[in-house]
Amino acid sequence: MVWLCLSATIRCNEEFVLIVIYGASGHTGSLIAKELHKQDLPFAMAGRNLGRLEKAAQQTGTSDLRVADVDDPKSLQEIFEDADVVINCAGPFSSIGQNVISAALAADSHYLDTTGEQEFVRDCYERFESASRQARRVVVNACAFEVALGDWAAHVAAEALGNVPLDELTISYAFDSLSPTKGTQLSILDALGKQGVRWDDGRWIRVAPGSERRDVEYPHPFGPRVALSFPSPEVITLPRHVNSARIQTYISIGADSPITRAAAAIAPVLSPMLSPLLGPLLRSTIGAIAESTIRANEPSVPKAGRFALVAQATAGQDQAQCAISGEDIYALSAGIITLAAERLENEGELCGVLAPSEILSPLDALEEIASLHQLYLELP
Ligand SMILES: NC(=O)c1ccc[n+]([C@@H]2O[C@H](COP(=O)([O-])OP(=O)(O)OC[C@H]3O[C@@H](n4cnc5c(N)ncnc54)[C@H](OP(=O)(O)O)[C@@H]3O)[C@@H](O)[C@H]2O)c1
Repeated sequence: MVWLCLSATIRCNEEFVLIVIYGASGHTGSLIAKELHKQDLPFAMAGRNLGRLEKAAQQTGTSDLRVADVDDPKSLQEIFEDADVVINCAGPFSSIGQNVISAALAADSHYLDTTGEQEFVRDCYERFESASRQARRVVVNACAFEVALGDWAAHVAAEALGNVPLDELTISYAFDSLSPTKGTQLSILDALGKQGVRWDDGRWIRVAPGSERRDVEYPHPFGPRVALSFPSPEVITLPRHVNSARIQTYISIGADSPITRAAAAIAPVLSPMLSPLLGPLLRSTIGAIAESTIRANEPSVPKAGRFALVAQATAGQDQAQCAISGEDIYALSAGIITLAAERLENEGELCGVLAPSEILSPLDALEEIASLHQLYLELP
C-alpha cells in the first residue's frame, strides 16, 4: 500500500534543493556522486572521515563535504538539515543504517539506501513506517542493483498474468564472477550469521539459506543453472505490491556441471543443520577475525562482472517471466538510486517506508535503466 500525505506543506511543490550522500567515500558512494555530477543535480558528499571524502571528491570537484559520526545523532541531523534527499551507502546497514534514517527523518529529508540486507529492510518497515508517515517523508531501502531490479522485474512478471493472486513469485540471480567491495563483504558476513525468511501463505517464515534449490534458465551467456535460496530483501518488499502465496529469492552457485549439481543436491540437506551454527560462530572470535581481516584490507575497485536476473510469476498453469542481464552492478546501482532520487522530486506526495516499485513505475524504470546501462531486458 502507498500512503499519500495530503498536506498542503509537502515538498512536492517546493524547489528541489539538495541530495546528501552519506558513505560517499566508499566505492558506491563515489559512483553515485559521479552520476549526480553528470546529471547536474546538486549534492554534498558526507561520511565519517574528511580525508577519505576529500580523496573521493577529487573525481567530481565537489567542495561541499560534510563529516558526522553515525553514533552522533545531533551532528548527523545537522549535516542533513538542508537535504531534500539523503542517500545512504554506508554499510553494513544492520549496524549503521537505523541512525542514518532517524537523522534523515529528524532533518525532514527523504531517505534512500543501497542495502541488500534482508533483516535490516524488514526492521525498517517495522521501525520507520509510522515515523516516516508522520514526518511525511519517504524511506526506500535497497534502491540498488540487488532488490530494485528484482522488485521491478517481479512486479512486471506478475502484472503480465493480469494481477491475479499468484501461487509463486521467484527472483533468481547469477554472476560470472564476484569481486565485492569491502563494504559488500562486511554486509555478506553480517547476513551469513542470520537466518533469512521467505514469504509463505501471507507471512514470513524463517528458513536456512541454501535450503531450497531451483533449476533456472538464465539469459545468454549464462544458460541453465542450479540456484539455491538466499535471503534477499525482495521477500520483504514484494508482498507490499504483489499478491503471491509464496515469494523466495535464489542465487546460482556456478555454471551447470556435475559438480555444481552434486553440491546443489547436498546443500538443502546440510544448510538447515549448518545455519544455526553459523550465527554463533560468526558472532564469536572466528567472526571477529573474519571481520577484522576484511576491515584491514585496502579498498579495491571491484571488477565489472556480468550478472543475470530472472523473475518468474506462477498462477496455476500460467507462468510469466522477466529476465535481465548486464554488467557492472556498482555503476548500475548508482544509476538506479539517482533515478529514484530524481523521481522523489516529482512524486513528493508519497510517504512511508516504500518498495522500489511504489516510488517508480516498474516497467518505465526497467526500460529507462536498461537503455541507460545497455542491459538486455526480456519482458513477459
Ligand atoms: N544492493 C546492492 O546491489 C548494492 C550495491 C552496491 C552497494 N551495496 C551496499 O552498500 C554498502 C556500501 O558498499 P560500497 O561498495 O560502497 O563499500 P565500500 O567501498 O567498502 O564503502 C563503504 C562505505 O561505508 C562507510 N562506512 C563503513 N562503516 C562506517 C561507519 N561505522 N560509520 C560511517 N561510515 C561507515 C565507509 O566510510 P569510510 O571510507 O570512512 O570507511 C565507506 O564510505 C555495502 O553495504 C554494500 O553491500 C549494495
